[in-house]
Amino acid sequence: MYWAKRLWVGLGALCAAGCAANGTTGGAVNTVPPPVTAREVAPILTGADAVDTASFAQPLEARVTHVALDLALDFAQKRVAGTATLDIVAAPGAQQIILDSRNLSIASVTDMAGHALPFEIGTGDALRGQPISVRFGDARRIRITYHSGADAEALQWLTPEQTAGRQHPYLFSQGQSILNRSWIPTQDSPGIRQTWEAVIRAPEPLKVVMSGDRLTPDGVPAGAGWRSYRFRMDHPVAPYLIAIAAGDIAFRPLGARTGVWTEPAMMDRAAAELADTEAMVEAAERLYGPYRWGRYDVIVLPPSFPYGGMENPTLTFLTPTFIAGDKSLNGLIAHELAHSWSGNLVTNAVWGDGWLNEGVTSYFENRIMEALYGPHRAGQEEALSFAETENALQELGATNDATRLHQPPNSDSDGGSSGITYDKGATFLRTMERLVGRARFDAWLRQWFDNHAFQPATSAMFLADMRQNLIHGDAALEARLMPEAWIYAPGLPANVARPDPAAFAAVDAASHAYQTTGNIDAAAWRGWTTAERLRFLSNVPEARNADQLAALDQALHLMDEGNAEVRFAWLNLALANRYQPAVPAAAEFLATIGRRKFVAPLFRTLVDTGDWGRAIASRIYARTRATYHPVTQAGVDRIMATNP
Ligand code: BES
Ligand code: ZN
Repeated sequence: MYWAKRLWVGLGALCAAGCAANGTTGGAVNTVPPPVTAREVAPILTGADAVDTASFAQPLEARVTHVALDLALDFAQKRVAGTATLDIVAAPGAQQIILDSRNLSIASVTDMAGHALPFEIGTGDALRGQPISVRFGDARRIRITYHSGADAEALQWLTPEQTAGRQHPYLFSQGQSILNRSWIPTQDSPGIRQTWEAVIRAPEPLKVVMSGDRLTPDGVPAGAGWRSYRFRMDHPVAPYLIAIAAGDIAFRPLGARTGVWTEPAMMDRAAAELADTEAMVEAAERLYGPYRWGRYDVIVLPPSFPYGGMENPTLTFLTPTFIAGDKSLNGLIAHELAHSWSGNLVTNAVWGDGWLNEGVTSYFENRIMEALYGPHRAGQEEALSFAETENALQELGATNDATRLHQPPNSDSDGGSSGITYDKGATFLRTMERLVGRARFDAWLRQWFDNHAFQPATSAMFLADMRQNLIHGDAALEARLMPEAWIYAPGLPANVARPDPAAFAAVDAASHAYQTTGNIDAAAWRGWTTAERLRFLSNVPEARNADQLAALDQALHLMDEGNAEVRFAWLNLALANRYQPAVPAAAEFLATIGRRKFVAPLFRTLVDTGDWGRAIASRIYARTRATYHPVTQAGVDRIMATNP
């Protein structure tokens, strides 16, 4: 069993909260197989680089090992209400546990006999929310009765009009990075892994799904028009990975272990776009070892979902904007699936090491794409990703600390530049792969996942593991790999593996022709992949006049474009040049899609044009703000607040 190694079992029987995980634990490791009922308890890292400044928790004093939720979904008041029962492991002498919360209303904290336990809700701060300190006495299981506050950041409550079916309300959550504390009172830190279970009640006919084993797929009657659903996650996971969705949703199998949940009206298009999901799981397993989470299902959410995808275990959450009709944006599935290893199995202990989740995943994603669709498509996507790194370096400056992979404590918990975290991170792994050879690199990465399965990790651990299991003390090899520069220095190290310049040779020739003669090769465009079209649009000079934009639109039918990525690229170009004919299309796009990656840049572009765009942005945002998820609202609020 893969969990015997370096994982503690039982509820604190063997290891108090303070056990270290860095291979220094020696005798604390239990090698006796646990009874089936015992829960896995993951270690807490003890190094200074594993201290999470985005959480109030003091896990070396007392930490949560298991969360049991019993909640009702109150669509009228837009809140969840009920209890969270927490299992605690405390260091000797510890008397209180500190939990994270954000605007929760706490009615009581008790032990399991119902006796009140003293607790205090601190003032907290804007980033972290409010700490809850509970004096637990002899209790090692405590029950919190509470409800979530108005506008809980993790939750979006949709009106029927915001759904495809327009008949029923909808709810979904988004935990990453530090939003789950707005609906679950627990230690909301990625280094404090917790198993969990849940009983959720929802009004009929809504169905409820969560990011764990779905024990009652159709729910059971709970009286008065309510149904109750049960869920369980027996692996310890980072608490940002607890997720819920509820709505008028249906399920369709895609393969033996894979399937899709979505609104009935979306089902055919969603299932067609996801047709390769089972093959992706198989390809991923061939690359880096067994998929350890049981089922891999996805839910295609309403368009206000603020991200492209979210890797919630057993149930990836997806934007409907990945549906292009031709699977050309299904790299998103490969990405979220890859997180089942990088992110969910081995998790950044702190958000400043987010590249361990996103960079490793972006590399893994590309390998899955190569396995399914061949090196041509994968090479193009790699080249687009590399261009993102170059853009980030150009924007930030190659000596800027923000271009380091490892970010020191107190950095933005929502991640730095994705061109660094995702794309530079992926390029780091690509460079190692090229230098040591694929077979050797793959064997090493696979053991990284195996040996850190269900545990938190830091940059320092990644480097140490590379030295121990890949470099083996070979000083010349280390000098060639430059891993320290990759992880800790800004910019791009000299050994960087660049994408094959031939990946976009045809497109770049067409771009050159366009820029020198103005000729637009519409026939070539029709034959291009999505990656090629995106490359072409990124090559269009930033400043275009109205005639030039009209010519592009006329030749390439950009105003009618159905692919969300291409449409976004076009609208961004058009708005940056104050192209009035694109304004209605942009307004429509912004009114129907809430994905932050599209919405925030379009508002930014409008605002950056000055009075013209600022007026348009204000007019649109006045109508659309209420339809966006709190994550997208926060992003656009910041943009709208900047002075001209
Ligand atoms: N885990 C991320 C989403 C995320 C990142 C949520 C940071 C909150 C904070 C997810 O795996 C992701 O990276 N999604 C991307 C798509 C991907 C193909 C690059 C997105 O949403 O665009
Ligand atoms: Zn990701």
